[in-house]
Amino acid sequence: MPSRSSKPAILLTRRLTADVEERLRSEFDVLLVGNQTVNRADDIEAHIGSVDALCPTVADRIDGKLLRDAGSRLQIVANFGVGYNNVDVATARELGITVTNTPDVLTASTADLAMTLILMTARRAGEGERLCRSGRWNGWEPLQLLGQEVSGKTLGLVGFGRIAQAVARRACDGFSMRILIYTRSRVDRAVLERYDARQCDELEELLAASDFVSLHCPSTPNTHHLLDRGALNTMRQAAILINTARGGIVDEAALVEALTTGAIGAAGVDVYEREPAIDPRLLNLDNVVLLPHLGSATKETRSAMGHRMIDNLVEFFAGREPRDRVV
Ligand code: 8YV
Repeated sequence: MPSRSSKPAILLTRRLTADVEERLRSEFDVLLVGNQTVNRADDIEAHIGSVDALCPTVADRIDGKLLRDAGSRLQIVANFGVGYNNVDVATARELGITVTNTPDVLTASTADLAMTLILMTARRAGEGERLCRSGRWNGWEPLQLLGQEVSGKTLGLVGFGRIAQAVARRACDGFSMRILIYTRSRVDRAVLERYDARQCDELEELLAASDFVSLHCPSTPNTHHLLDRGALNTMRQAAILINTARGGIVDEAALVEALTTGAIGAAGVDVYEREPAIDPRLLNLDNVVLLPHLGSATKETRSAMGHRMIDNLVEFFAGREPRDRVV
């Protein structure tokens, strides 16, 4: 009879890049549930009790009941992603389950995607692309698809963590944008000077003064619907809202209304309140660019995220403090 492996058992909810899966298999006994197309919640529930570690993604809801039902074998939830609002961390803490995430390695790619959305919305790239594909483009016109200039405009950043700072760098150095910041803690004067930025005391102040507003705060009960109807109405009429953070930070129904009535100019959206569902009214609006949660979607970043997740697991099972422990 084959002897039971001494490697910790890991439950992986999604396929990862080949190099990551190979390293995972060399270090652990890997159980992969479901495939890329099915809802694998039932599979996770069926197997969570027989593993030492769970490696979920943003698309897997790891709620308190699931963690409680797991029993005592589960020791760590090593989340594949920097945001961990998909995991009930309060219950994990209560049960003594460690939770880790994968910061740093996706900062550049997510900041790049925020810039992509800024440029796409301002320059109406989605509309232009659809026009080319429709076969209805009749040639160059001086007044065709006129967008807004990006260079020199004011960019308001909500939240000022790693990704927001990387966006500030790009916007400031590459596009000479003026930077406004709204975040709970006081930002160092030296950091503000680096971007020639100003910190606003109130969100409303930033919203009223920005040509672009880009969201970079975590999704918490405090930031739920931070951009509600009132906040959206505070924005300038031509202003553009960019969300690469989490869908729940914006009231999606209020966003539809603001885009429809012209309360704001446009929006670039990578994340949604009820992923993968998108409010169908958004699909018919020309002044919104919609992406399917691509923030960290480069081969290099997804691989780096996987290795960062494995580093956390290796440290944990070696009895050391994982560098990205959040609980
Ligand atoms: C990830 C993200 O792809 O890391 C995050 O918080 O939003 C994405 O870039 C996703 O979380 C994978 O779990």
